[in-house]
Amino acid sequence: MGVRPPDSLIARVHRLVAPLRPVAWTRAERGYTPAERWVVQLSDGSTAFVKGAVDEATAGWLRTEHRVYSTIEARYLPKSLGWDDGKNPVLLLEDLSAAYWPPPWRPGDVELVLDALAKVRATPPPDWVPAQDRERLVGWPAVAEDPRPFLSLGLCSEAWLTEALPHLVTAEGDAEIDGDALVHIDVRSDNLCFSGDRVVLVDWNHAARANPLLDVAAWLPSLHSEGGPLPEDILPDEPELAALISGFFACRAGLPNIETAPRVRGVQVEQLRSALPWAARSLGLPALG
Ligand SMILES: Nc1ncnc2c1ncn2[C@@H]1O[C@H](COP(=O)(O)OP(=O)(O)O)[C@@H](O)[C@H]1O
Ligand SMILES: [Mg+2]
Repeated sequence: MGVRPPDSLIARVHRLVAPLRPVAWTRAERGYTPAERWVVQLSDGSTAFVKGAVDEATAGWLRTEHRVYSTIEARYLPKSLGWDDGKNPVLLLEDLSAAYWPPPWRPGDVELVLDALAKVRATPPPDWVPAQDRERLVGWPAVAEDPRPFLSLGLCSEAWLTEALPHLVTAEGDAEIDGDALVHIDVRSDNLCFSGDRVVLVDWNHAARANPLLDVAAWLPSLHSEGGPLPEDILPDEPELAALISGFFACRAGLPNIETAPRVRGVQVEQLRSALPWAARSLGLPALG
């Protein structure tokens, strides 16, 4: 028999899909949190995506994600097929494994994502959606306080950082975070797919209300690291947002590994490799050295 989720998760999915039964399980390989993620085949031949929380953090994130699906109706959201709350909630979604999940990014994909983000931006956020927490994003002051984790990444010299830091802190402080638009905040190739004529965004853990450009800015470093255009080709003249996004990664990427999410630091470094030169170029700082 192949790999299967824990029996408790199987039983809960069984209750959600009854009178159908789960008959086969395939683990979803991408994603960065420790949540359980599976595609389940049911006794009538249909399939569903199963996401199960495993601790307090993933439980809170999954509740936010479910709340998005239950209070917003939009083609850019996966259809919600079931929900079982509790200590570790379980969410059942439309199975999108047959959709196209980048990378590679194909010609036209970037424009389609920008169109989808325009639709997100045009969606009035439900009242419960919290304002984006500025402190969660801002990072350069933490690097100033203890630059060692960041410098250990070897992306720049100490001399470069000493010269650049005041400019990065100021620009980041001037970044416009507040706004009235619905934002996803975690737009990345592992959180979106192309299904027929839909672009579908999954993983709404961090849904917030904010400046809509945050979603574009947060996506661009990963897009570039996956072979896409330079961030400023999509978002020119946004040095403050470049400083903000680079600061988010700069204060995290060099920290010790997270035991329950061992691939997070790696993807943060990759994004920082694109975000930091973007900030340097757009602020007119010396080239990284
Ligand atoms: N509805 C879905 N159908 C099929 N696969 C999915 C679906 N949602 C997510 N996935 C796959 O599972 C991965 C992780 O899911 P995600 O919800 O982003 O979890 P995490 O919060 O751990 O990042 C995605 O990168 C994608 O490969
Ligand atoms: Mg994800």
